[in-house]
Amino acid sequence: MIKVAVLTLSDRGAKGLRKDAGGPAIERLMRKIDAEVVSYDILPDEKALIRKKLISLCRRKIDLVITTGGTGLSPRDVTPEATREVIQREIPGMAEAMRLEGLRKTPFAMLSRAVAGIRGGTLIINLPGSPAAVEEGLSAILPVLPHAIEKIKGSTAECAQPPSPLPADAGRP
Ligand code: MTE
Repeated sequence: MIKVAVLTLSDRGAKGLRKDAGGPAIERLMRKIDAEVVSYDILPDEKALIRKKLISLCRRKIDLVITTGGTGLSPRDVTPEATREVIQREIPGMAEAMRLEGLRKTPFAMLSRAVAGIRGGTLIINLPGSPAAVEEGLSAILPVLPHAIEKIKGSTAECAQPPSPLPADAGRP
Protein backbone atom coordinates (compact mmCIF):
# COMPACT_ATOMS: atom_id res chain seq x y z
CA MET A 1 0.00 0.00 0.00
CA ILE A 2 1.43 3.39 -1.06
CA LYS A 3 1.29 5.94 1.77
CA VAL A 4 0.23 9.38 0.55
CA ALA A 5 0.25 12.79 2.24
CA VAL A 6 -1.81 15.64 0.80
CA LEU A 7 -0.65 19.19 1.46
CA THR A 8 -2.93 22.03 0.35
CA LEU A 9 -1.33 25.46 0.01
CA SER A 10 -3.74 28.33 0.18
CA ASP A 11 -3.83 31.50 2.27
CA ARG A 12 -7.62 31.53 2.18
CA GLY A 13 -7.90 27.79 2.80
CA ALA A 14 -5.61 27.98 5.83
CA LYS A 15 -7.87 30.68 7.33
CA GLY A 16 -10.93 28.51 6.72
CA LEU A 17 -12.25 30.97 4.11
CA ARG A 18 -12.14 28.52 1.21
CA LYS A 19 -13.31 24.92 1.07
CA ASP A 20 -10.57 22.66 -0.26
CA ALA A 21 -11.92 20.89 -3.32
CA GLY A 22 -8.66 19.31 -4.50
CA GLY A 23 -8.19 17.02 -1.49
CA PRO A 24 -11.23 14.76 -2.11
CA ALA A 25 -10.32 14.43 -5.82
CA ILE A 26 -6.82 13.29 -4.85
CA GLU A 27 -8.22 10.71 -2.41
CA ARG A 28 -10.55 9.27 -5.04
CA LEU A 29 -7.79 8.96 -7.66
CA MET A 30 -5.38 7.41 -5.17
CA ARG A 31 -7.79 4.53 -4.56
CA LYS A 32 -7.31 3.53 -8.22
CA ILE A 33 -3.65 2.67 -7.58
CA ASP A 34 -4.05 1.08 -4.16
CA ALA A 35 -2.68 4.16 -2.41
CA GLU A 36 -4.00 5.50 0.87
CA VAL A 37 -4.07 9.14 2.02
CA VAL A 38 -2.68 8.97 5.58
CA SER A 39 -2.10 12.65 6.24
CA TYR A 40 -3.80 15.83 5.21
CA ASP A 41 -2.71 19.42 5.96
CA ILE A 42 -3.56 22.94 4.83
CA LEU A 43 -0.91 25.66 5.08
CA PRO A 44 -0.76 29.30 3.99
CA ASP A 45 1.53 30.22 1.08
CA GLU A 46 4.63 30.66 3.26
CA LYS A 47 7.79 29.15 1.85
CA ALA A 48 9.46 28.39 5.19
CA LEU A 49 6.35 26.63 6.54
CA ILE A 50 5.91 24.60 3.37
CA ARG A 51 9.57 23.57 3.33
CA LYS A 52 9.43 22.50 6.97
CA LYS A 53 6.26 20.46 6.42
CA LEU A 54 7.68 18.74 3.32
CA ILE A 55 10.83 17.77 5.21
CA SER A 56 8.84 16.40 8.14
CA LEU A 57 6.56 14.35 5.83
CA CYS A 58 9.62 12.85 4.14
CA ARG A 59 11.07 11.92 7.57
CA ARG A 60 7.81 10.09 8.34
CA LYS A 61 8.56 7.76 5.40
CA ILE A 62 5.60 8.91 3.36
CA ASP A 63 5.90 7.40 -0.16
CA LEU A 64 4.19 10.20 -2.03
CA VAL A 65 3.52 13.83 -1.07
CA ILE A 66 0.99 15.57 -3.29
CA THR A 67 0.79 19.33 -2.91
CA THR A 68 -2.05 21.33 -4.39
CA GLY A 69 -2.07 25.09 -4.95
CA GLY A 70 0.47 27.87 -4.96
CA THR A 71 2.06 26.94 -8.30
CA GLY A 72 0.92 29.99 -10.25
CA LEU A 73 2.27 33.44 -10.94
CA SER A 74 1.00 35.58 -8.09
CA PRO A 75 3.65 36.92 -5.71
CA ARG A 76 2.31 34.65 -2.93
CA ASP A 77 2.67 31.46 -5.05
CA VAL A 78 5.81 29.80 -3.67
CA THR A 79 5.09 26.06 -3.73
CA PRO A 80 7.60 25.28 -6.54
CA GLU A 81 10.33 27.30 -4.80
CA ALA A 82 9.75 25.50 -1.48
CA THR A 83 9.70 22.14 -3.27
CA ARG A 84 12.94 22.85 -5.15
CA GLU A 85 14.63 23.65 -1.84
CA VAL A 86 13.86 20.19 -0.44
CA ILE A 87 14.11 17.83 -3.41
CA GLN A 88 17.43 16.18 -4.20
CA ARG A 89 16.53 15.12 -7.74
CA GLU A 90 13.97 16.64 -10.07
CA ILE A 91 11.73 14.62 -12.41
CA PRO A 92 10.93 17.15 -15.15
CA GLY A 93 8.99 14.64 -17.26
CA MET A 94 6.24 14.25 -14.66
CA ALA A 95 5.57 18.00 -14.51
CA GLU A 96 5.77 18.18 -18.31
CA ALA A 97 3.24 15.35 -18.69
CA MET A 98 0.81 17.08 -16.32
CA ARG A 99 1.07 20.39 -18.18
CA LEU A 100 0.69 18.64 -21.55
CA GLU A 101 -2.52 16.94 -20.40
CA GLY A 102 -3.82 20.25 -19.01
CA LEU A 103 -3.04 22.08 -22.26
CA ARG A 104 -5.41 19.73 -24.10
CA LYS A 105 -8.20 21.28 -22.03
CA THR A 106 -7.07 24.86 -21.39
CA PRO A 107 -4.19 27.15 -22.38
CA PHE A 108 -4.13 28.34 -18.76
CA ALA A 109 -2.36 25.08 -17.89
CA MET A 110 0.88 26.72 -19.05
CA LEU A 111 0.67 29.08 -16.09
CA SER A 112 1.39 26.38 -13.52
CA ARG A 113 5.07 26.19 -12.49
CA ALA A 114 4.53 22.83 -10.73
CA VAL A 115 7.58 20.62 -10.21
CA ALA A 116 8.11 16.98 -9.23
CA GLY A 117 11.09 15.45 -7.51
CA ILE A 118 12.57 13.09 -4.95
CA ARG A 119 13.73 13.58 -1.39
CA GLY A 120 15.16 10.41 0.13
CA GLY A 121 12.54 7.72 -0.49
CA THR A 122 9.69 10.16 -1.04
CA LEU A 123 8.24 11.40 -4.31
CA ILE A 124 6.92 14.98 -4.14
CA ILE A 125 4.47 16.17 -6.79
CA ASN A 126 3.07 19.71 -7.10
CA LEU A 127 -0.41 20.15 -8.56
CA PRO A 128 -2.28 23.41 -9.18
CA GLY A 129 -5.13 24.30 -6.85
CA SER A 130 -8.19 23.97 -9.06
CA PRO A 131 -10.08 20.64 -8.85
CA ALA A 132 -10.00 20.32 -12.67
CA ALA A 133 -6.24 20.76 -12.68
CA VAL A 134 -5.85 18.20 -9.88
CA GLU A 135 -7.96 15.68 -11.78
CA GLU A 136 -6.24 16.23 -15.13
CA GLY A 137 -2.70 16.45 -13.80
CA LEU A 138 -2.94 13.44 -11.55
CA SER A 139 -4.70 11.33 -14.18
CA ALA A 140 -1.78 11.97 -16.55
CA ILE A 141 0.82 10.52 -14.17
CA LEU A 142 -1.33 7.95 -12.35
CA PRO A 143 -0.29 4.95 -14.51
CA VAL A 144 3.41 5.44 -13.75
CA LEU A 145 3.19 6.35 -10.06
CA PRO A 146 3.50 2.81 -8.57
CA HIS A 147 6.51 2.04 -10.78
CA ALA A 148 8.13 5.42 -10.01
CA ILE A 149 7.73 4.83 -6.27
CA GLU A 150 9.16 1.30 -6.52
CA LYS A 151 12.20 2.66 -8.35
CA ILE A 152 12.72 5.46 -5.83
CA LYS A 153 12.77 2.81 -3.10
CA GLY A 154 15.56 0.99 -4.94
CA SER A 155 13.73 -1.71 -6.89
CA THR A 156 16.02 -3.27 -9.48
CA ALA A 157 13.17 -4.95 -11.34
CA GLU A 158 13.23 -4.78 -15.12
CA CYS A 159 11.68 -1.58 -16.53
CA ALA A 160 11.27 -2.57 -20.15
CA GLN A 161 7.73 -3.26 -21.32
CA PRO A 162 7.13 -5.62 -24.25
CA PRO A 163 6.83 -3.40 -27.35
CA SER A 164 3.24 -2.87 -28.45
CA PRO A 165 2.57 -4.24 -31.97
CA LEU A 166 2.81 -1.57 -34.68
CA PRO A 167 -0.03 -1.19 -37.17
CA ALA A 168 0.73 -2.81 -40.54
CA ASP A 169 1.09 0.59 -42.28
CA ALA A 170 3.26 2.20 -39.57
CA GLY A 171 6.04 4.32 -41.02
CA ARG A 172 4.63 4.31 -44.57
CA PRO A 173 4.12 7.76 -46.17
N1 MTE B 1 -4.13 22.98 -15.26
C1 MTE B 1 -5.25 22.34 -15.65
N2 MTE B 1 -5.15 21.10 -16.11
N3 MTE B 1 -6.47 22.91 -15.55
C2 MTE B 1 -6.62 24.18 -15.10
O1 MTE B 1 -7.77 24.66 -15.02
N4 MTE B 1 -5.48 26.18 -14.19
C3 MTE B 1 -4.28 26.99 -14.41
C4 MTE B 1 -2.98 26.25 -14.14
N5 MTE B 1 -3.08 24.85 -14.42
C5 MTE B 1 -5.45 24.90 -14.70
C6 MTE B 1 -4.20 24.25 -14.80
C7 MTE B 1 -4.28 28.28 -13.72
S1 MTE B 1 -5.56 29.31 -14.11
C8 MTE B 1 -3.28 28.67 -12.88
S2 MTE B 1 -3.22 30.26 -12.32
C9 MTE B 1 -2.17 27.77 -12.54
O2 MTE B 1 -2.54 26.43 -12.81
C10 MTE B 1 -1.68 27.86 -11.11
O3 MTE B 1 -2.67 27.50 -10.19
P1 MTE B 1 -2.35 27.48 -8.62
O4 MTE B 1 -1.72 28.80 -8.28
O5 MTE B 1 -3.68 27.26 -7.97
O6 MTE B 1 -1.39 26.38 -8.34
